[in-house]
Amino acid sequence: MPMARNHTLLGKVFHWAFVLLYAYGIFKQIDDLSQLEDTALLQFEIVFASVFLLLVVIRYGYMRRFETFQGSVVPVHRYHKRFARLMHVAMYLCLVLLPVTGLAIAWLYTQGIGEEALAMDVAISLHGFAADLSYALIAIHVVAALYSRIKGEGVWTSMVPVFTESGPSTNEYVVKAAALEHQALEKVEAFIASRKD
Ligand code: HEM
Ligand code: HEM
Repeated sequence: MPMARNHTLLGKVFHWAFVLLYAYGIFKQIDDLSQLEDTALLQFEIVFASVFLLLVVIRYGYMRRFETFQGSVVPVHRYHKRFARLMHVAMYLCLVLLPVTGLAIAWLYTQGIGEEALAMDVAISLHGFAADLSYALIAIHVVAALYSRIKGEGVWTSMVPVFTESGPSTNEYVVKAAALEHQALEKVEAFIASRKD
């Protein structure tokens, strides 16, 4: 049985404070470049994006030492762990791209570069892309967390303070789904191994 560990208090504070910070950033989003004529708003955006970026980097620096699914009370297939880690890293990249492209927009704007310039067009497109990708990745993340909670693997409880688990589910459908999932991962592993020889 693997050693199951909860995330640290600091890890949880980073995770949940970030959900709020991200939600705030998305809700107060700018709709149009012309809004940046408001100097106070432009300055606020620059400070917000800088703080956001700094916190993402600090959080990653702190969290990278922990194992993915460290709260699992059931054995985790190594490919499953690797895939989850990839998704987490993708979320971090997205959360870096969002403020970086926002800051790029701000910088271009203060240089008097407008929407008609290619550089601004690229910055705004990347900014929109980062936002859209973040919605998709976070939606997948939450669905995956819920699915794991249904299975009762302990990963949920290691990070989420509510609706905590008390051991793996014994519901026959859930057990069957977990078995199918395991078989699929074994097939992927066998396939990758066969391509290596
Ligand atoms: C803005 C929204 C969210 C983002 C950007 C996010 C991002 C992340 C990241 C990057 C991790 C990996 C650990 C770390 O580096 O901190 C993580 C872990 C986790 N998150 Fe989220 N999360 C979000 C919302 C949620 C929500 C709403 C839930 C539950 C309903 C959730 C459940 C979990 C769980 C259970 C883990 C632990 C996974 C593990 O131990 O490997 N997250 N989250
Ligand atoms: C972490 C910080 C930020 C977050 C979370 C964020 C989020 C967003 C989101 C979700 C959108 C809508 C994208 C879309 O329609 O596809 C948006 C648009 C925009 N953001 Fe940001 N943003 C941030 C920082 C900044 C900064 C610093 C600036 C510049 C001062 C900026 C300037 C803009 C502009 C001009 C648009 C409108 C683009 C257009 O005309 O379509 N953002 N932002």
